[in-house]
Amino acid sequence: MSVLDLTHISRNFGTASRPVRALRDVSLRIEKGERLGIVGESGSGKTTLARIVLGLTRTSAGTVRLLDRDVTAHSAADRRFIHGAVQMVFQDPMSSLNPRKRIKDIIALPLRAQGVGTAATRASRVRDLLDSVGLPQRFLNARPGQLSGGQRQRVGIARALAIEPQLLLLDEPTASLDVSVQARVLELLVGLQQRLGIAQVMISHNLGVIRHAADRVAVMYLGQIVETGTTAQLYASPAHPYTQALFSAIPRVGDKKRTLGEDHTLARGEVASALNIPDGCPFHPRCPRASHICRSAEPKQVEVSPGQFARCHLVEPMAGSV
Ligand SMILES: Nc1ncnc2c1ncn2[C@@H]1O[C@H](COP(=O)(O)OP(=O)(O)OP(=O)(O)O)[C@@H](O)[C@H]1O
Ligand SMILES: [Mg+2]
Repeated sequence: MSVLDLTHISRNFGTASRPVRALRDVSLRIEKGERLGIVGESGSGKTTLARIVLGLTRTSAGTVRLLDRDVTAHSAADRRFIHGAVQMVFQDPMSSLNPRKRIKDIIALPLRAQGVGTAATRASRVRDLLDSVGLPQRFLNARPGQLSGGQRQRVGIARALAIEPQLLLLDEPTASLDVSVQARVLELLVGLQQRLGIAQVMISHNLGVIRHAADRVAVMYLGQIVETGTTAQLYASPAHPYTQALFSAIPRVGDKKRTLGEDHTLARGEVASALNIPDGCPFHPRCPRASHICRSAEPKQVEVSPGQFARCHLVEPMAGSV
């Protein structure tokens, strides 16, 4: 049984005549204890994908299965099921924490919502959680406005861990943390996988973070997964020209310089968006290797080595895969 199984997910925003195609036929599966990294530049659909898993955004097409249950319809019962199994650490900690609540109540919220324990056991669990994200106990009675961005991000992580979810979605969880705290949070996540088998999806622009926080990586471009494979495969031998440009130098944790969008090896080209997706291969206007077919036909996914897939006309399929 997979923890998560997304098949042929699409999501449009906007109007029928001017659709914003945020996700286009995305399929992916996450097994128990697996850590998936999602990378891709701004607007590629990463947050939309996470919100669909959490039931905060509906799909336009496709199926969402969580722990073998079809939750695509987002019924009230589905939402309860989702909240018992999935927690998310949001990209923007200020907007995801209620400014009027005290930290201890914010962290305890998922426990109360799921009816876990007594008031006393919940209070002791909250103290442990604060410890495990490296925040002092004096913050228990503080409110989000009294904390720094990094401290608030850790409150968000503590809250997400409260019920020990089967799946943890992390949307840029370390972006506002300084390097030493970032390293501690990444260590904490490794421990959760090893001790509790919690599956994790890490969305990040920081390729150094992804390298430490993911076993497998999905690279997104304009609403599609353009390449997926193990972290080792993608860092050692990326197949898609977009992935190649992103991964052309291997960064380390805390290496601020190597983030998406600052890479000069990528052709800038005309800036495409989910409102204006190029014909053929959506990457062709920026691709250094684009040829005639890339401008006219959309590439299908090709297996380039065992478990590594790329959507590109120019990659060599693995022998025997087609
Ligand atoms: N509620 C919405 N209404 C209209 N358009 C939306 C909405 N949510 C997302 N979009 C659009 O969908 C596309 C994907 O957005 P999304 O937030 O998923 O990107 P992202 O990969 O998370 O980007 P970032 O790295 O900047 O966080 C973008 O073009 C965005 O403008
Ligand atoms: Mg986002």
